[in-house]
Amino acid sequence: MSTTATSIPVTRTTTPRFSEQLRDTAAFGAVFSDHVLVADYADGRWGDPVIVPYGQMPMAPAPLVAHYGQGIFEGFKAFPRPGNGAALFRPDANHARMNRTCRRMAMPEIPASIFIEGTAALVRVDMQWIPAKPGSALYIRPVMFATGEPLGVRPSEKYRFVIETNPSGPYFSGAVDLLAEEHYVRAFPGGTGAAKCAGNYAGSLVAAGEAQAKGFHNVLWLDGIERRYVEEAGLMNVVFVIDDTVVTPPLSGTILPGITRDSVLTLLREMGVKVEERRIAIDEVFDAHAAGRLQSAAGVGTAATIAPLGRLRHKDREITVPSITADSPLARVGAELDSIRTGAGADRHQWMVAV
Ligand SMILES: Cc1ncc(COP(=O)(O)O)c(C=O)c1O
Repeated sequence: MSTTATSIPVTRTTTPRFSEQLRDTAAFGAVFSDHVLVADYADGRWGDPVIVPYGQMPMAPAPLVAHYGQGIFEGFKAFPRPGNGAALFRPDANHARMNRTCRRMAMPEIPASIFIEGTAALVRVDMQWIPAKPGSALYIRPVMFATGEPLGVRPSEKYRFVIETNPSGPYFSGAVDLLAEEHYVRAFPGGTGAAKCAGNYAGSLVAAGEAQAKGFHNVLWLDGIERRYVEEAGLMNVVFVIDDTVVTPPLSGTILPGITRDSVLTLLREMGVKVEERRIAIDEVFDAHAAGRLQSAAGVGTAATIAPLGRLRHKDREITVPSITADSPLARVGAELDSIRTGAGADRHQWMVAV
């Protein structure tokens, strides 16, 4: 698949910050590419998007996002295609998820002509910011927030949509250590758990900080009613391999429907691996480990794709999850995803969108 060239006007920076060194050494999220896409919503409609230099933008002193929290975002990647530009991974899925989040947060949906065509146009302008090293990508971060001013607890009448991008190098991580959270909850039935809204992340920061102070990378969220069933990790969905079956919590409305999760499950099923989307009690994970049936476990998300889990603690019990072996379904599905993204393998689902 590819996008058509659009007529989004571009104002190029006269003071580019680009250097190969900056691009190739940037820590995740630390360096922004030279341009952003901006579109404003007012009077019941989206205005035309523009691509402008990254920089300060005037705004009301306290736009409504700061009061009532209508702030949402997305995250996905453009992968380099040696000698052939770049390709976006499943931008349509992120677009659809952002619009679901819009509906949940009483915000206006964003058209594909701004989200998808806008991303493609922005990536074309800042193509040189895509690191070429294997495993590198340009991280794409669309955000949308309420810019109205008159106070009152109701949906804002004005919004801004921005796409900014960051060069991001290969994600080399060791195993991710998780602390199953006993006190705080991320979401509950009927809440906003399935939406990618800023408030979900604000509410998680204290828990993540406390887990880090105890020596873990992040929390493993449990359900908000019984604190018994596994939900997801701080920034990733989770999968467990038990008895050669990949088990993952269902999309019940309280976890983020990850695009990586969906991609991984789709490919695993095609590989003939048994996949179960069902509730999984934290005790079941520990019991499976005690019985030697827990073969591996991983977080799955855009940043790392498949990050092996290491230590897992719940109350006074702690286990070290067995590492992912080369013949594990998780290793095989990770390799398959990589080959689709680099263009080395067949893209049977037309997930890649050339720009
Ligand atoms: C809370 C949470 N869960 C899961 C994910 C994984 O989603 P995706 O695979 O779309 O990146 C993310 C990252 O976006 C996340 O923030």
